[in-house]
Amino acid sequence: MDQLPKHDIANPALAADGIRRIEWADRCMPVLRQVRERFAEHRPFAGVRIAACMHVTTETANLMRTLHVGGAEIALCASNPLSTQDDVTAALVHEYGISVFARTGVDRDTYYQHINSALDIQPDYVFDDGCDLVNTLHTSRTELLSNIKAGCEETTTGVQRLRQMSQDGALRFPMVAVNDTDTKHMFDNRYGTGQSSMDALMRATNVLFAGRVVVVAGFGFCGQGLAERAAGLGAQVIVTEVDATKALDALMQGYRVMPMRDAAPLGDIFITVTSNSGVLRPEHFELMKDGAILANAGHFDVEVDVVGLEKMAVEKRTGIRHRTDEYVLPSGRRLLLVAEGRLVNLGAAEGHPAAVMDMSFSDQALTAEWLIGSHSDLAPGVHEVPSEIDKEVARLKLAAEGVSIDVLTTEQQAYLSGWQHGS
Ligand SMILES: NC(=O)c1ccc[n+]([C@@H]2O[C@H](COP(=O)([O-])OP(=O)(O)OC[C@H]3O[C@@H](n4cnc5c(N)ncnc54)[C@H](O)[C@@H]3O)[C@@H](O)[C@H]2O)c1
Repeated sequence: MDQLPKHDIANPALAADGIRRIEWADRCMPVLRQVRERFAEHRPFAGVRIAACMHVTTETANLMRTLHVGGAEIALCASNPLSTQDDVTAALVHEYGISVFARTGVDRDTYYQHINSALDIQPDYVFDDGCDLVNTLHTSRTELLSNIKAGCEETTTGVQRLRQMSQDGALRFPMVAVNDTDTKHMFDNRYGTGQSSMDALMRATNVLFAGRVVVVAGFGFCGQGLAERAAGLGAQVIVTEVDATKALDALMQGYRVMPMRDAAPLGDIFITVTSNSGVLRPEHFELMKDGAILANAGHFDVEVDVVGLEKMAVEKRTGIRHRTDEYVLPSGRRLLLVAEGRLVNLGAAEGHPAAVMDMSFSDQALTAEWLIGSHSDLAPGVHEVPSEIDKEVARLKLAAEGVSIDVLTTEQQAYLSGWQHGS
């Protein structure tokens, strides 16, 4: 490449590894591949600048390639200090000509410097995962706001923050809640988080799930996936919730349900996934067994009160296993914290399987294309993805899996649209 795009990455020598892994992920992303082929032909993003703040993984690389061949100029930064894959950043810069500001394990200041560097592209559109980029725009980079036409948000926590901004009248441009498509939260949050969090816990601690008591805090889309996969591995699952309907659903699915205070002395492995803060805190740590494993799969590192744990502990053994720290409590009991309480599946493993991200990122790509023609019709605030995009992604995924489904007959269409027929 004659001239490299602007970047701050860890190690350019890793590019070959990154290319190999990005291409491997691409094999499991047939829907996004089809979208990319169409974008390459029609170039819907010609002349468009996009700043993206996302987990820098192989799947994200394939989304960036898709937007790039569609004509977009892109600057990518990380949405979590631990999730960046350094071989992927090297490949994006050196092979695919995409500007990247991300290195794994950076401190908070560098994390925000990288967001600012991505914003220096002066974006027309933004892609966010957790709302840190949009938040930065509205607090310290307000001079860029008037240029932003619209954006997409990838995760539950980000959508929650955006809705709050919108309610307070603070959000200055339209943001589309890609998280809320059926093809995203019903599959990515559930199957992706379920499988990849088990994978991360096994890689980090080598724990045997069979026979263990796994406590899942939060029975939303992600929590259901975690509970299903833990039970599938032979664990006994306890669910904690604050929502009565979700708790009842967990009970009906065969899990034990109780407050965290009661679950704390029983659990061998605890996983929080609530989008809330302080779900596991000192009053719970005090009750836990020696050797209990703590992890978080929710977006921010506030679900396990790590500050409280640090204060309580008489000793901390950092890196006792890969991405695992041990805290010794005054009683002598030891608690293991995986990935510093950050998103465990991205901090201690590779994140979701590519086959899942195929759907989420096809939703992202098609929503971005739709925004090019529609942003001026949208008021500042949080908007839904048009349902045709959601259905189209599901149809393409089924087709890629070689699965066909029934279609409504004319009689069925008439029956469903009428009200005259009774028993
Ligand atoms: N790890 C990943 O790869 C990944 C993927 C998708 C989403 N996420 C993140 O996971 C989190 C959850 O997402 P979701 O889509 O499942 O959300 P959701 O809204 O469907 O579920 C969250 C659940 O947590 C419950 N809850 C809230 N406070 C609680 C508390 N103190 N104790 C017990 N339960 C509590 C809520 O009642 C709700 O049922 C978000 O932060 C989201 O951004 C992570």
